[in-house]
Amino acid sequence: MRELSLDLAGRSESHRVLIGPGLRRDLGRLLQPLGFPSRVFVITDRRVQRLYGKDLQETLTGAGFQANLLAVAPGERSKSWPALQRLARELLAQGAHRGTVLLALGGGVVGDLTGFLASIYMRGIPLVQVPTTLLAMVDASIGGKTAINLPEGKNLLGTFWQPRLAVMDPEFLNTLPLKERLNGLAEVLKAGFIRDRELLERLAREGRELFHHPEELLEVIHRASGIKVAIVAADVREADLRRLLNFGHTLGHGLEAASHYRLPHGRAVALGMLMALRLSEQLSGLPEEESRWGQQLLRKFGYAEHLPRLDREAVLAALIRDKKRLEAGLVFVLLRRLGEAVIQEDVPLALADEALSEVLDLG
Ligand SMILES: NC(=O)c1ccc[n+]([C@@H]2O[C@H](COP(=O)([O-])OP(=O)(O)OC[C@H]3O[C@@H](n4cnc5c(N)ncnc54)[C@H](O)[C@@H]3O)[C@@H](O)[C@H]2O)c1
Ligand SMILES: [Zn+2]
Repeated sequence: MRELSLDLAGRSESHRVLIGPGLRRDLGRLLQPLGFPSRVFVITDRRVQRLYGKDLQETLTGAGFQANLLAVAPGERSKSWPALQRLARELLAQGAHRGTVLLALGGGVVGDLTGFLASIYMRGIPLVQVPTTLLAMVDASIGGKTAINLPEGKNLLGTFWQPRLAVMDPEFLNTLPLKERLNGLAEVLKAGFIRDRELLERLAREGRELFHHPEELLEVIHRASGIKVAIVAADVREADLRRLLNFGHTLGHGLEAASHYRLPHGRAVALGMLMALRLSEQLSGLPEEESRWGQQLLRKFGYAEHLPRLDREAVLAALIRDKKRLEAGLVFVLLRRLGEAVIQEDVPLALADEALSEVLDLG
Protein backbone atom coordinates (compact mmCIF):
# COMPACT_ATOMS: atom_id res chain seq x y z
CA MET A 1 0.00 0.00 0.00
CA ARG A 2 1.14 3.56 -0.74
CA GLU A 3 0.22 6.53 1.32
CA LEU A 4 0.14 10.26 0.65
CA SER A 5 -0.54 12.93 3.14
CA LEU A 6 -2.44 16.03 2.12
CA ASP A 7 -1.06 18.44 4.66
CA LEU A 8 -2.98 21.69 4.66
CA ALA A 9 -0.60 23.76 6.76
CA GLY A 10 -1.54 21.95 9.93
CA ARG A 11 -5.24 22.64 9.43
CA SER A 12 -7.79 20.10 10.59
CA GLU A 13 -8.76 19.36 6.99
CA SER A 14 -5.41 17.63 6.46
CA HIS A 15 -5.95 14.00 5.58
CA ARG A 16 -4.43 10.82 4.22
CA VAL A 17 -4.72 9.33 0.74
CA LEU A 18 -4.30 5.56 0.67
CA ILE A 19 -3.55 3.69 -2.55
CA GLY A 20 -3.40 -0.08 -2.85
CA PRO A 21 -4.79 -3.03 -4.78
CA GLY A 22 -7.66 -4.65 -2.88
CA LEU A 23 -8.12 -1.79 -0.40
CA ARG A 24 -11.84 -1.67 -1.22
CA ARG A 25 -12.28 -4.87 0.75
CA ASP A 26 -10.53 -3.31 3.76
CA LEU A 27 -12.42 -0.07 3.79
CA GLY A 28 -14.37 -0.72 6.99
CA ARG A 29 -11.18 -1.32 8.93
CA LEU A 30 -9.58 1.79 7.41
CA LEU A 31 -12.46 3.95 8.60
CA GLN A 32 -12.30 2.71 12.20
CA PRO A 33 -9.46 4.94 13.45
CA LEU A 34 -11.32 8.06 12.27
CA GLY A 35 -13.77 7.82 15.14
CA PHE A 36 -16.92 8.22 13.07
CA PRO A 37 -20.36 7.32 14.47
CA SER A 38 -21.59 3.95 13.23
CA ARG A 39 -23.89 5.23 10.47
CA VAL A 40 -22.37 5.52 6.98
CA PHE A 41 -24.21 6.45 3.80
CA VAL A 42 -22.58 5.25 0.61
CA ILE A 43 -23.49 7.44 -2.36
CA THR A 44 -22.77 5.91 -5.75
CA ASP A 45 -24.14 5.58 -9.26
CA ARG A 46 -26.12 2.57 -10.41
CA ARG A 47 -23.38 1.14 -12.59
CA VAL A 48 -20.82 1.25 -9.80
CA GLN A 49 -23.44 -0.02 -7.38
CA ARG A 50 -23.97 -3.14 -9.51
CA LEU A 51 -20.23 -3.78 -9.65
CA TYR A 52 -19.09 -2.90 -6.13
CA GLY A 53 -22.02 -1.98 -3.92
CA LYS A 54 -22.27 -5.35 -2.23
CA ASP A 55 -18.50 -5.64 -1.52
CA LEU A 56 -18.54 -2.24 0.05
CA GLN A 57 -21.53 -2.85 2.24
CA GLU A 58 -19.92 -6.08 3.43
CA THR A 59 -16.64 -4.50 4.45
CA LEU A 60 -18.48 -1.71 6.26
CA THR A 61 -20.84 -3.98 8.18
CA GLY A 62 -17.92 -6.31 8.90
CA ALA A 63 -16.22 -3.44 10.70
CA GLY A 64 -19.30 -2.60 12.76
CA PHE A 65 -20.77 0.19 10.64
CA GLN A 66 -24.38 0.41 9.65
CA ALA A 67 -24.18 1.06 5.91
CA ASN A 68 -26.97 2.41 3.72
CA LEU A 69 -26.55 2.86 0.01
CA LEU A 70 -28.10 5.56 -2.20
CA ALA A 71 -27.57 5.55 -5.96
CA VAL A 72 -28.01 8.11 -8.73
CA ALA A 73 -28.12 7.50 -12.49
CA PRO A 74 -24.64 7.24 -14.03
CA GLY A 75 -23.44 10.27 -15.98
CA GLU A 76 -22.87 14.01 -15.81
CA ARG A 77 -26.60 14.74 -15.61
CA SER A 78 -26.64 13.56 -12.02
CA LYS A 79 -24.46 16.51 -11.01
CA SER A 80 -27.66 18.50 -10.76
CA TRP A 81 -29.87 20.34 -8.32
CA PRO A 82 -32.70 17.78 -8.59
CA ALA A 83 -30.34 14.87 -7.85
CA LEU A 84 -28.82 16.78 -4.94
CA GLN A 85 -32.20 17.58 -3.44
CA ARG A 86 -33.44 14.03 -3.87
CA LEU A 87 -30.38 12.69 -2.04
CA ALA A 88 -30.70 15.25 0.76
CA ARG A 89 -34.35 14.35 1.32
CA GLU A 90 -33.49 10.66 1.23
CA LEU A 91 -30.82 11.23 3.89
CA LEU A 92 -33.36 13.04 6.04
CA ALA A 93 -35.97 10.33 5.59
CA GLN A 94 -33.44 7.70 6.63
CA GLY A 95 -32.37 9.65 9.70
CA ALA A 96 -28.95 10.97 8.69
CA HIS A 97 -27.83 13.52 11.26
CA ARG A 98 -24.91 15.86 11.83
CA GLY A 99 -22.37 13.16 12.56
CA THR A 100 -23.37 10.84 9.73
CA VAL A 101 -20.59 10.10 7.23
CA LEU A 102 -21.05 10.25 3.46
CA LEU A 103 -18.85 7.94 1.43
CA ALA A 104 -18.57 8.78 -2.28
CA LEU A 105 -18.08 5.57 -4.25
CA GLY A 106 -17.66 6.33 -7.95
CA GLY A 107 -16.15 8.59 -10.56
CA GLY A 108 -15.85 12.36 -10.50
CA VAL A 109 -19.59 12.81 -10.94
CA VAL A 110 -20.39 10.97 -7.73
CA GLY A 111 -17.41 12.55 -5.98
CA ASP A 112 -18.37 16.13 -6.88
CA LEU A 113 -22.06 15.60 -6.09
CA THR A 114 -21.46 13.79 -2.80
CA GLY A 115 -18.81 16.30 -1.77
CA PHE A 116 -21.20 19.18 -2.38
CA LEU A 117 -23.95 17.43 -0.45
CA ALA A 118 -21.61 16.66 2.47
CA SER A 119 -20.53 20.29 2.60
CA ILE A 120 -24.06 21.66 2.98
CA TYR A 121 -26.12 18.89 4.61
CA MET A 122 -26.88 20.20 8.11
CA ARG A 123 -24.09 22.76 7.55
CA GLY A 124 -21.53 20.08 6.75
CA ILE A 125 -20.90 16.43 7.59
CA PRO A 126 -17.81 14.21 7.17
CA LEU A 127 -16.91 12.91 3.72
CA VAL A 128 -14.82 9.97 2.54
CA GLN A 129 -13.76 9.69 -1.10
CA VAL A 130 -13.48 6.27 -2.73
CA PRO A 131 -12.79 7.06 -6.39
CA THR A 132 -13.43 4.27 -8.90
CA THR A 133 -12.26 5.93 -12.14
CA LEU A 134 -8.69 6.87 -12.99
CA LEU A 135 -9.75 10.49 -13.43
CA ALA A 136 -11.32 10.60 -10.01
CA MET A 137 -8.24 8.96 -8.43
CA VAL A 138 -5.61 11.29 -9.83
CA ASP A 139 -7.73 14.42 -10.08
CA ALA A 140 -11.33 14.82 -8.89
CA SER A 141 -11.07 13.18 -5.45
CA ILE A 142 -8.07 15.32 -4.44
CA GLY A 143 -8.27 18.99 -3.60
CA GLY A 144 -11.70 19.34 -2.05
CA LYS A 145 -13.47 21.01 -4.96
CA THR A 146 -17.13 20.02 -5.12
CA ALA A 147 -19.80 21.05 -7.60
CA ILE A 148 -23.05 20.57 -9.41
CA ASN A 149 -23.98 21.91 -12.84
CA LEU A 150 -26.68 24.38 -13.81
CA PRO A 151 -28.46 24.46 -17.18
CA GLU A 152 -26.24 27.50 -17.89
CA GLY A 153 -22.98 25.63 -17.46
CA LYS A 154 -20.79 23.14 -15.64
CA ASN A 155 -19.68 23.37 -12.00
CA LEU A 156 -21.44 26.67 -11.35
CA LEU A 157 -22.50 25.81 -7.82
CA GLY A 158 -19.89 24.38 -5.52
CA THR A 159 -17.82 24.53 -2.39
CA PHE A 160 -14.43 23.52 -1.06
CA TRP A 161 -14.88 20.55 1.26
CA GLN A 162 -12.01 18.22 2.07
CA PRO A 163 -12.63 14.52 2.61
CA ARG A 164 -11.49 13.00 5.90
CA LEU A 165 -9.85 10.19 3.94
CA ALA A 166 -9.42 9.12 0.31
CA VAL A 167 -8.96 5.45 -0.55
CA MET A 168 -7.87 4.37 -4.03
CA ASP A 169 -7.99 0.76 -5.17
CA PRO A 170 -6.43 0.41 -8.64
CA GLU A 171 -8.36 -2.86 -9.08
CA PHE A 172 -11.49 -0.78 -9.64
CA LEU A 173 -9.97 0.09 -13.01
CA ASN A 174 -10.20 -3.53 -14.19
CA THR A 175 -13.86 -2.94 -15.00
CA LEU A 176 -13.46 0.61 -16.32
CA PRO A 177 -14.06 0.89 -20.10
CA LEU A 178 -11.06 1.86 -22.26
CA LYS A 179 -12.60 5.21 -23.14
CA GLU A 180 -12.84 6.13 -19.46
CA ARG A 181 -9.30 4.87 -18.79
CA LEU A 182 -7.95 7.13 -21.52
CA ASN A 183 -9.93 10.02 -20.12
CA GLY A 184 -8.12 9.70 -16.82
CA LEU A 185 -4.80 8.96 -18.45
CA ALA A 186 -4.85 12.39 -20.07
CA GLU A 187 -4.75 13.91 -16.58
CA VAL A 188 -1.92 11.56 -15.64
CA LEU A 189 0.02 12.71 -18.71
CA LYS A 190 -0.74 16.28 -17.72
CA ALA A 191 0.74 15.71 -14.26
CA GLY A 192 3.88 14.33 -15.90
CA PHE A 193 4.19 17.19 -18.35
CA ILE A 194 4.00 19.85 -15.65
CA ARG A 195 5.99 18.16 -12.90
CA ASP A 196 7.46 14.73 -13.51
CA ARG A 197 9.45 13.77 -16.54
CA GLU A 198 10.08 10.29 -15.21
CA LEU A 199 6.35 9.66 -15.06
CA LEU A 200 6.21 10.51 -18.77
CA GLU A 201 9.01 8.06 -19.46
CA ARG A 202 7.12 5.30 -17.65
CA LEU A 203 4.01 6.04 -19.69
CA ALA A 204 6.08 6.00 -22.88
CA ARG A 205 7.51 2.58 -21.95
CA GLU A 206 4.17 1.11 -20.97
CA GLY A 207 1.70 2.55 -23.46
CA ARG A 208 -1.78 1.11 -23.08
CA GLU A 209 -0.24 -2.04 -21.57
CA LEU A 210 -0.07 -0.05 -18.34
CA PHE A 211 -3.52 -1.31 -17.41
CA HIS A 212 -2.30 -4.91 -17.49
CA HIS A 213 0.68 -4.26 -15.20
CA PRO A 214 -0.62 -3.79 -11.64
CA GLU A 215 2.75 -2.75 -10.16
CA GLU A 216 3.28 -0.05 -12.75
CA LEU A 217 -0.31 1.11 -12.54
CA LEU A 218 0.02 1.51 -8.77
CA GLU A 219 3.22 3.50 -9.21
CA VAL A 220 1.66 5.73 -11.86
CA ILE A 221 -1.44 6.46 -9.76
CA HIS A 222 0.77 7.16 -6.76
CA ARG A 223 2.95 9.62 -8.67
CA ALA A 224 0.12 11.40 -10.47
CA SER A 225 -2.07 11.79 -7.40
CA GLY A 226 1.06 12.80 -5.46
CA ILE A 227 1.54 15.70 -7.86
CA LYS A 228 -2.01 16.89 -7.35
CA VAL A 229 -1.64 16.49 -3.58
CA ALA A 230 1.56 18.54 -3.58
CA ILE A 231 0.09 21.34 -5.68
CA VAL A 232 -3.13 21.50 -3.66
CA ALA A 233 -1.24 21.50 -0.36
CA ALA A 234 0.78 24.48 -1.56
CA ASP A 235 -2.24 26.30 -2.94
CA VAL A 236 -5.59 25.22 -1.46
CA ARG A 237 -7.72 28.06 -2.75
CA GLU A 238 -6.52 28.09 -6.32
CA ALA A 239 -4.22 31.03 -6.67
CA ASP A 240 -1.16 30.66 -8.85
CA LEU A 241 0.33 27.25 -8.45
CA ARG A 242 -2.93 25.41 -8.90
CA ARG A 243 -3.32 27.09 -12.28
CA LEU A 244 -0.53 24.86 -13.59
CA LEU A 245 -3.03 22.01 -13.42
CA ASN A 246 -4.73 23.70 -16.36
CA PHE A 247 -2.03 22.55 -18.78
CA GLY A 248 -3.87 21.55 -21.98
CA HIS A 249 -7.15 22.83 -20.59
CA THR A 250 -7.34 26.27 -22.24
CA LEU A 251 -7.72 24.79 -25.71
CA GLY A 252 -9.27 21.63 -24.26
CA HIS A 253 -12.25 23.55 -22.94
CA GLY A 254 -12.64 25.32 -26.28
CA LEU A 255 -12.64 21.98 -28.10
CA GLU A 256 -15.16 20.49 -25.68
CA ALA A 257 -17.48 23.45 -26.13
CA ALA A 258 -17.08 23.47 -29.93
CA SER A 259 -17.94 19.75 -30.03
CA HIS A 260 -21.00 20.38 -27.85
CA TYR A 261 -19.37 18.13 -25.27
CA ARG A 262 -19.28 15.12 -27.59
CA LEU A 263 -15.49 15.17 -27.36
CA PRO A 264 -14.58 13.54 -24.01
CA HIS A 265 -12.75 15.80 -21.57
CA GLY A 266 -9.54 13.75 -21.52
CA ARG A 267 -9.32 13.64 -25.27
CA ALA A 268 -9.93 17.38 -25.57
CA VAL A 269 -7.23 18.01 -22.97
CA ALA A 270 -4.82 15.71 -24.80
CA LEU A 271 -5.36 17.74 -27.97
CA GLY A 272 -4.93 20.90 -25.92
CA MET A 273 -1.61 19.53 -24.66
CA LEU A 274 -0.49 18.83 -28.24
CA MET A 275 -1.19 22.44 -29.03
CA ALA A 276 0.47 23.72 -25.86
CA LEU A 277 3.61 21.73 -26.74
CA ARG A 278 3.80 23.50 -30.09
CA LEU A 279 3.27 26.89 -28.48
CA SER A 280 5.88 26.07 -25.86
CA GLU A 281 8.53 25.71 -28.56
CA GLN A 282 7.74 29.21 -29.78
CA LEU A 283 7.09 31.04 -26.53
CA SER A 284 8.61 29.39 -23.49
CA GLY A 285 11.80 27.83 -24.82
CA LEU A 286 10.83 24.13 -24.81
CA PRO A 287 13.54 22.39 -26.87
CA GLU A 288 12.16 21.13 -30.17
CA GLU A 289 13.15 17.51 -29.58
CA GLU A 290 11.36 17.46 -26.21
CA SER A 291 8.26 18.93 -27.80
CA ARG A 292 8.33 16.32 -30.53
CA TRP A 293 8.84 13.50 -28.03
CA GLY A 294 5.87 14.75 -25.99
CA GLN A 295 3.66 14.96 -29.04
CA GLN A 296 4.60 11.41 -30.04
CA LEU A 297 3.72 10.20 -26.56
CA LEU A 298 0.25 11.75 -26.79
CA ARG A 299 -0.26 10.20 -30.22
CA LYS A 300 0.89 6.81 -28.95
CA PHE A 301 -2.23 6.66 -26.78
CA GLY A 302 -4.41 7.42 -29.80
CA TYR A 303 -5.79 10.78 -28.69
CA ALA A 304 -5.30 12.36 -32.11
CA GLU A 305 -6.80 9.50 -34.13
CA HIS A 306 -10.15 9.74 -35.90
CA LEU A 307 -10.94 13.22 -34.72
CA PRO A 308 -14.50 14.33 -35.28
CA ARG A 309 -14.89 17.37 -37.54
CA LEU A 310 -14.48 20.42 -35.35
CA ASP A 311 -15.20 23.98 -36.31
CA ARG A 312 -12.00 26.03 -35.87
CA GLU A 313 -13.99 29.26 -35.62
CA ALA A 314 -16.10 27.90 -32.77
CA VAL A 315 -12.99 26.85 -30.85
CA LEU A 316 -11.46 30.29 -31.37
CA ALA A 317 -14.67 31.96 -30.26
CA ALA A 318 -14.49 29.98 -27.00
CA LEU A 319 -10.86 31.04 -26.52
CA ILE A 320 -11.76 34.69 -27.06
CA ARG A 321 -14.65 34.43 -24.59
CA ASP A 322 -12.07 33.18 -22.10
CA LYS A 323 -9.76 36.04 -22.97
CA LYS A 324 -12.43 38.66 -22.31
CA ARG A 325 -12.69 37.42 -18.75
CA LEU A 326 -8.98 37.84 -18.16
CA GLU A 327 -7.00 41.03 -17.87
CA ALA A 328 -3.81 39.36 -18.97
CA GLY A 329 -5.00 38.44 -22.46
CA LEU A 330 -4.90 34.85 -23.64
CA VAL A 331 -3.26 32.81 -20.90
CA PHE A 332 -1.74 29.38 -21.48
CA VAL A 333 0.15 27.02 -19.24
CA LEU A 334 3.26 26.20 -21.27
CA LEU A 335 6.43 24.19 -20.67
CA ARG A 336 10.02 25.29 -20.31
CA ARG A 337 11.16 21.68 -20.23
CA LEU A 338 9.29 18.38 -20.00
CA GLY A 339 8.26 18.32 -16.33
CA GLU A 340 8.51 22.08 -15.82
CA ALA A 341 5.53 24.36 -16.45
CA VAL A 342 5.13 28.13 -16.58
CA ILE A 343 2.16 30.47 -16.89
CA GLN A 344 2.38 32.41 -20.14
CA GLU A 345 0.26 35.53 -20.40
CA ASP A 346 -0.56 37.54 -23.51
CA VAL A 347 -0.27 34.68 -25.98
CA PRO A 348 -1.04 36.20 -29.41
CA LEU A 349 -4.30 34.86 -30.80
CA ALA A 350 -2.65 34.34 -34.21
CA LEU A 351 -0.14 31.89 -32.71
CA ALA A 352 -2.88 30.04 -30.84
CA ASP A 353 -4.86 29.85 -34.08
CA GLU A 354 -1.86 28.44 -35.93
CA ALA A 355 -1.24 25.73 -33.33
CA LEU A 356 -4.95 24.92 -33.31
CA SER A 357 -5.06 24.50 -37.09
CA GLU A 358 -2.08 22.16 -37.01
CA VAL A 359 -3.70 20.01 -34.33
CA LEU A 360 -7.06 19.88 -36.09
CA ASP A 361 -5.30 18.88 -39.31
CA LEU A 362 -4.00 15.78 -37.57
CA GLY A 363 -7.43 14.19 -37.56
N1 LIG B 1 -13.56 18.20 -8.17
C1 LIG B 1 -12.55 18.26 -9.01
O1 LIG B 1 -11.48 18.78 -8.70
C2 LIG B 1 -12.71 17.67 -10.37
C3 LIG B 1 -11.58 17.50 -11.20
C4 LIG B 1 -11.75 16.91 -12.44
C5 LIG B 1 -13.00 16.51 -12.85
N2 LIG B 1 -14.08 16.68 -12.04
C6 LIG B 1 -15.42 16.23 -12.45
O2 LIG B 1 -15.38 14.83 -12.59
C7 LIG B 1 -16.43 14.44 -13.49
C8 LIG B 1 -15.92 13.37 -14.41
O3 LIG B 1 -15.54 12.25 -13.65
P1 LIG B 1 -15.29 10.82 -14.33
O4 LIG B 1 -14.50 10.99 -15.56
O5 LIG B 1 -14.79 9.95 -13.26
O6 LIG B 1 -16.73 10.42 -14.84
P2 LIG B 1 -17.98 9.65 -14.19
O7 LIG B 1 -18.05 9.82 -12.74
O8 LIG B 1 -19.16 10.03 -15.01
O9 LIG B 1 -17.65 8.12 -14.50
C9 LIG B 1 -17.55 7.70 -15.84
C10 LIG B 1 -18.37 6.44 -16.09
O10 LIG B 1 -17.66 5.32 -15.55
C11 LIG B 1 -18.52 4.52 -14.75
N3 LIG B 1 -17.67 3.91 -13.74
C12 LIG B 1 -17.11 4.51 -12.66
N4 LIG B 1 -16.27 3.66 -12.05
C13 LIG B 1 -16.30 2.50 -12.74
C14 LIG B 1 -15.63 1.26 -12.61
N5 LIG B 1 -14.71 1.05 -11.66
N6 LIG B 1 -15.91 0.29 -13.50
C15 LIG B 1 -16.80 0.51 -14.49
N7 LIG B 1 -17.46 1.66 -14.69
C16 LIG B 1 -17.20 2.65 -13.81
C17 LIG B 1 -19.56 5.47 -14.25
O11 LIG B 1 -20.74 4.79 -13.93
C18 LIG B 1 -19.74 6.42 -15.43
O12 LIG B 1 -20.64 5.86 -16.34
C19 LIG B 1 -16.87 15.70 -14.20
O13 LIG B 1 -18.14 16.07 -13.73
C20 LIG B 1 -15.85 16.73 -13.80
O14 LIG B 1 -16.38 18.03 -13.72
C21 LIG B 1 -13.94 17.24 -10.81
ZN1 LIG C 1 -9.18 18.07 -16.60
